[in-house]
Amino acid sequence: MKPVAIDVCCRKGGVTKGLQRAGFYVIGIDVEPQPGYPGDEFVQMDGLEVLRRFRDFCGVWGIDPTLVWQSWPCQFRNTATASNRARGLTDEHPDLLPLGRELSDRLGIPYVLEQPTSSVKGTIRSDLILCMDMFKGELPPPWVQKHRSFEFGHWPGPLPTQPEHPAGPVRGPSVHPFKPPAGHAGYVRGHRHNVVRRGAEAPYVAGYGKGGGKAKVWELRHAMGIDWMDDLFDLCEAIPPVFAEHIGRSFLNSLAAQGRLSGAAT
Ligand SMILES: C[S@@+](CC[C@H](N)C(=O)[O-])C[C@H]1O[C@@H](n2cnc3c(N)ncnc32)[C@H](O)[C@@H]1O
Repeated sequence: MKPVAIDVCCRKGGVTKGLQRAGFYVIGIDVEPQPGYPGDEFVQMDGLEVLRRFRDFCGVWGIDPTLVWQSWPCQFRNTATASNRARGLTDEHPDLLPLGRELSDRLGIPYVLEQPTSSVKGTIRSDLILCMDMFKGELPPPWVQKHRSFEFGHWPGPLPTQPEHPAGPVRGPSVHPFKPPAGHAGYVRGHRHNVVRRGAEAPYVAGYGKGGGKAKVWELRHAMGIDWMDDLFDLCEAIPPVFAEHIGRSFLNSLAAQGRLSGAAT
């Protein structure tokens, strides 16, 4: 029997797919219907409600989850939308993350909180930062610069390690979390910071928005290792499966090392 993970705010399943690859049976929770969701089960429900009545739901569903992953909407604290706030555009996303953390702490269940690394400082504890460059290996461009920060609660062993970030000549504000000599292999294509870049100097595509040289669907599918999503917004919102796979494997290996799981995830 596989260990069960709950993926709160699963959308079209970037995290879910990675956890499945690590060896989990994954139940996705989202307030919106998610046709095409690739997980093992899907429940349309408010994630906070699930955490509030967690033991009741687990009893009804006949499950005993080992991990709760939470990808609460990040727009509220993301610096990418700071300019909108500065222009007086209101943000309708409530701050769900602290509530999710509090409820999970009360349950005492292992959990992962995840946010874009560009989020305002203090949103979550940055126990780990992952970048797609750490995983792209021999993949030909286009690549995407995706950085995510992770906070781990009630973790059963050593925290997941940070894979090596290949050195690159182009540094910018988005690579600040990495120790030198990390940098990126080039620029992001399109119009950014009043400069238009294209061709060989811009092997990356932006993992958000439309227009101005931004990524096409096939480019993000390729760059993020996602072959089941056809919608640009879903792709922009998704966490690269390889991030969740890395963390999920580390988690399961810790359980196995403590004899709390039969067989390690290799
Ligand atoms: C950034 S997306 C998640 C991306 C996803 N984890 C992935 O890897 O593909 C955020 C999702 O949170 C969902 N959401 C927002 N508020 C929620 C809530 N209170 N309970 C459950 N899902 C919620 C949204 O419908 C959206 O699909």
